Amino acid sequence: MCGIIGFCGYLDAKEELIEGLSELEYRGYDSAGIACFTKEGIRIVKAVGKVEGLRNKLPVNMESGCGIGHTRWATHGEVSEVNAHPHQCGRVTLIHNGIIENYHELEKELEKTGRSPKSKTDTEIAAMLLDSLYTGDVLEALREAVKRLDGAYAFCIMFSDKPDEIYCIRKGSPLVCCVSQDGSVVASDMVALLRYSKEYFVLPEFMVAKVTKKTILVTDLEGNLITPNILSVHWDMSAAKKNGFKHYMLKEIHEQPEAIARTLAPRIKKDKYMLPDFSKDGIDDAVFAHTTRIIVAACGTAMHAGMLGKILMERILRIPVSVEIASEFRYSDPIFTEDTLVIVVSQSGETADTLAALRLAKEKGIKTLSIVNVKGSSIARESDYVLYTHAGPEIAVASTKAYTAQLAAFYLLTFRFAYVTGRLNEKEVSDYMEELSKTGMLMEQMLDQKDRVRELSKRLTPARDLFFIGRSLDYALSCEGSIKLKEITYIHSEAYAAGELKHGTLSLITGGVPVIALATQGDVFSKMISNVKEVRARGAMVILLIKEDNQTLLEEEIFDEKFLLPAGNDLFAPFSAIVILQLLAYYTSCYRGLDVDQPRNLAKSVTVE
Ligand code: F6R
Repeated sequence: MCGIIGFCGYLDAKEELIEGLSELEYRGYDSAGIACFTKEGIRIVKAVGKVEGLRNKLPVNMESGCGIGHTRWATHGEVSEVNAHPHQCGRVTLIHNGIIENYHELEKELEKTGRSPKSKTDTEIAAMLLDSLYTGDVLEALREAVKRLDGAYAFCIMFSDKPDEIYCIRKGSPLVCCVSQDGSVVASDMVALLRYSKEYFVLPEFMVAKVTKKTILVTDLEGNLITPNILSVHWDMSAAKKNGFKHYMLKEIHEQPEAIARTLAPRIKKDKYMLPDFSKDGIDDAVFAHTTRIIVAACGTAMHAGMLGKILMERILRIPVSVEIASEFRYSDPIFTEDTLVIVVSQSGETADTLAALRLAKEKGIKTLSIVNVKGSSIARESDYVLYTHAGPEIAVASTKAYTAQLAAFYLLTFRFAYVTGRLNEKEVSDYMEELSKTGMLMEQMLDQKDRVRELSKRLTPARDLFFIGRSLDYALSCEGSIKLKEITYIHSEAYAAGELKHGTLSLITGGVPVIALATQGDVFSKMISNVKEVRARGAMVILLIKEDNQTLLEEEIFDEKFLLPAGNDLFAPFSAIVILQLLAYYTSCYRGLDVDQPRNLAKSVTVE
């Protein structure tokens, strides 16, 4: 969601802020703005639409070495220039990521002091509050403001009587900082810091960062100095660039074999047998030994990875696993037992509902393990155990490599769990691990089919409705195929457990409606084929995904198009099947002329409820 950047240093601040905002565009936004300290005081420029539009509005004479910039994803108040950040009240100019929940109540109080907002945003009320509390002592004002503000926030604040200084504070919403030769930088995520440094720190909650040219001083609200924990990333700028691909999504689809290898490699111990090993992650075997029930909580694509993980874990571990939509879970008064393990899954590690689900489990004293991509993110820091996927930066809003890396993490966890609890012996685990380590290769083979997928996508382009069907692992995968397609093509799409079609949805299957049928699982193959016949009998255009080794079981041509997936253990078919589904979504979006990487209304990291 909203992107934040603050720069204080030796370069042209407005240029640095615009660059930073361009790097944060992927988070999703509808308007943008910057504020800079200049000789004439603080100057603010805002624009509705893309960062490029903001760049074109900047006056050439806006000379400055210090400023803040923001991309807004509207929550309170429509998309307009006046609602865009930065917001200014008296001596305070600020940008904000998050939601101030009690803004209405604060507004009423502040009106009594003669302050009234120009915009419809919760953020401007925070600026008004701070201005009302500020008498020249920043810490004193922040101390009071924190007591009064409910909700989540990351603020970058400029005080007009403190030139060339930026103050930051956060609760819930993320904020990362780095110091380099060119100056000091703060941002809502690491991608915008990469140009300056590979070393950074996460501003701890309720701590204050005072950002100046040479340094970032972190103190608590009483002014006691804090030494933040320095983190580093192993990837460089090129990892966050398109590198010749037309879109980030296409690049990230292609990066999957490599991403999976990075998830697996640090956890494979090869001796006589190939076993998963989490000793470097600090995940003790006792975690598995004492678990009799698992709850997975996540949102969107990460939740779909959990759905697949559930089937896998229940099948192999024979313990009950439930998958919960994080936004529902937190309000459902869930039942925990002492030996429950809560697994939360999140690419960004900042999704508000997933974070809340994690906190709920922790509050109840339940063990938590997270599968996270972004290092140092809130979910990673707050879980008892974390398994980083190491998929590298994912820029496209539609998640691809983060998803398959999450799947790989579930497979690893399952196999270690099974080994520790004696469900599988060394040899059995090792055989599975051998196959898991070959999944990257399977994905490479599927990428070779991209021209065929592109051709086929032309046929999907005019569709109004579309269905994905599958059973077992294929149903979980259908859910992921469907969300991918709908989010970037805007075609209405639904995923159905194939056996469920007859109970209502079959009425929507009419001549020419595309149905993408996944039939990769041998144990339900014949049942699945019956369902395919049912939709075909009603005129559906069927695109069938089956494994090479099941081809001979097809007695008749019951498809319009067929994709063959490599032969092998059905358990690993999702890795190859998903590549076809991702490419279908990608090329259909391209043919429809849409913004593949930044679909309308969506944000990469959903940091508000
Ligand atoms: C869809 C997509 C979203 C995210 C969801 C959770 O392609 O990317 O559904 O999966 O917003 O995000 P994270 O994984 O960051 O918690």
